Amino acid sequence: MSAIESVLHESRVFAPSAEAAAGAAISGMDAYRALMAEAERDYDGFWAKLARETLSWRKPFSKVLDETNAPFYTWFEDGELNASHNCLDRHVEAGNGDRTALIFEADGGEVTRVTYQDLLQRVCRFANALKRRGVKKGDRVVIYMPMSVEGVVAMQACARIGAPHSVVFGGFSSKSLNERLVDVGAVALVTADEQMRGGKALPLKRIADEALAMGGCEAVQSVFVYRRTGGEVEWHAPRDIWMDEAAAQEADTCAPEWVGAEHPLFVLYTSGSTGKPKGVQHSTGGYLLWAAQTIKWTFDWKPSDVFWCTADIGWVTGHTYITYGPLALGATQVVFEGVPTYPDGGRFWNMIEKHKVSVFYTAPTAIRSLIKIAEADAKVHPRSYDLSSLRILGTVGEPINPEAWIWYHEQVGGSRCPVVDTWWQTETGGHMIAPMPGATPLVPGSCTLPLPGIMAAIVDETGQDVPNGQGGILVVKRPWPAMLRTVWGDPERYKKSYFPAELGGKLYLAGDGSVRDKETGYFTIMGRIDDVLNVSGHRLGTMEIESALVSNPIVAEAAVVGRPDDTTGEAVVAFVVLKRPRPEGEEAVKLANELRAWVGKEIGPIAKPKDVRFGDNLPKTRSGKIMRRLLRSLAKGEEITQDVSTLENPAILEQLAQGR
Ligand code: WT7
Repeated sequence: MSAIESVLHESRVFAPSAEAAAGAAISGMDAYRALMAEAERDYDGFWAKLARETLSWRKPFSKVLDETNAPFYTWFEDGELNASHNCLDRHVEAGNGDRTALIFEADGGEVTRVTYQDLLQRVCRFANALKRRGVKKGDRVVIYMPMSVEGVVAMQACARIGAPHSVVFGGFSSKSLNERLVDVGAVALVTADEQMRGGKALPLKRIADEALAMGGCEAVQSVFVYRRTGGEVEWHAPRDIWMDEAAAQEADTCAPEWVGAEHPLFVLYTSGSTGKPKGVQHSTGGYLLWAAQTIKWTFDWKPSDVFWCTADIGWVTGHTYITYGPLALGATQVVFEGVPTYPDGGRFWNMIEKHKVSVFYTAPTAIRSLIKIAEADAKVHPRSYDLSSLRILGTVGEPINPEAWIWYHEQVGGSRCPVVDTWWQTETGGHMIAPMPGATPLVPGSCTLPLPGIMAAIVDETGQDVPNGQGGILVVKRPWPAMLRTVWGDPERYKKSYFPAELGGKLYLAGDGSVRDKETGYFTIMGRIDDVLNVSGHRLGTMEIESALVSNPIVAEAAVVGRPDDTTGEAVVAFVVLKRPRPEGEEAVKLANELRAWVGKEIGPIAKPKDVRFGDNLPKTRSGKIMRRLLRSLAKGEEITQDVSTLENPAILEQLAQGR
């Protein structure tokens, strides 16, 4: 049975325990339904109330949702606030300055605790350092850093001075970094000498230097460097400046720059169906509201919780569930530099035990890889650790297969902790469909129901609703505060990608296929309907990988598809035609490895194809269109049962089926 079939046949239901329901933010399904009904009755009133309760406004808003310039919606537009003030000052002012904000654990295990008071001072110092270098409201700052206190400080400092940040994941190549620096028009870059992962040092500053040398980003006047390892770096004075030296000269107070609610808080690049990543632009007010609110609801967050989201700040999960959401609530959270398998596969469980983590949020890929390790070695099995502090478990980024869900629930959560499977996207800012731990009966493999206020639905290709039980296209029918505002520098692409005319121009198109259960209306996500792959919870555009391959001088043509993978969810398979005769045997292995390394250099190691197959040609129709559905079958190793009558060169299938 495929993963999706097994979800659709899943009949195990886990109702919330009396304990989980008692005292929950949303306790019982009636409470959930009442909130949903409230939102339907008075949409503006529903959101306005949350925004007033959850955030501190310098200037209160009088307007809520403005749809005049749809689909360029605005929320709370005349209100003013500052995200960093909401995340730091207001907790210190309320007397919680001594509360631990961050419990940082480094790759090697050293632990640093940072209070709200400390964090505020560090953010102020760095904000002042940015200002001293001329960075001002509206300027863009790119952040290319490891997981670190400094990474959070850099993001918050940008927010403090109203300079939108664009964080680039530390695993991206110099070329990817360059493209983002150019597209966003950065004036400053914050990076580190090196990054430590699994005991190995990786040269971030060197990659950043390469990216800057590629040109197009001459506007970058300052490069702040966090001294992580003390490893050797090339120095370009006066452009380069050590982050600690810069901060040491500055005052530890810095008045927040009050910005309108619609002021862009950040731009985060993500893959779409064309070769060029999109800069997803988020607002300050609506985004921050949802970052905080979803933690209260989905994780039923309480002030006594120790929260741990294992994502990297280079992805949206790290933005919303590390840098902004938990801090906006005044939460205590763990921030982790390393990887789940170093020094051994028990690292996560060891850290949960050590820091008494109560809410744990990770990706299905991590769970699946840890299952394998734990089942092979009792020493690193979760049952060898005291995980009794856990209260709630979450997953994100990709579908979770019921087997992994059950293992997580039983072995990690001791069958006590609700598992919340959260569906959302870079574009949605925060959770969209997820169970409420004190209310929603859980079904493994289903993200269950939309959060209060979220009008998710399933439609056909013309935008008409489809009945439950029938699969279709996942959409959101009404704008919500945390939705993206535009694609940076490309409003047309925003309209086309997310509000396509084919669906009537008013529905937000998520890009996923989904089906709702006949009885419960629960959503199950069936994966992307566009040319986007999901590998280990990371979004990769097939066209991006194809352009990377074709830019190699020996490659004539390339087509990339996904194939299901037990650990990473999907794996990248590349079909390649060379400008020279089709290689075989050892030669093919050697060239496949070269091309994998090439893609790693062009985009980043996450995009490396798992499988590279060479052909004399690709399967094409008479009009020259590549038949991707055939490639997908070939990649899976399926026999071709589809109609191939429109195929011009059927003999090619046999060649490509053979693999390397
Ligand atoms: C895509 C968004 C959400 C933050 C991390 C990824 C897939 C996400 C789930 C889930 C099934 C999921 C979708 C979505 N996805 N969460 N719980 N179940 N699929 O953000 O990189 O923007 O990717 O990830 O396909 O469209 P992203």
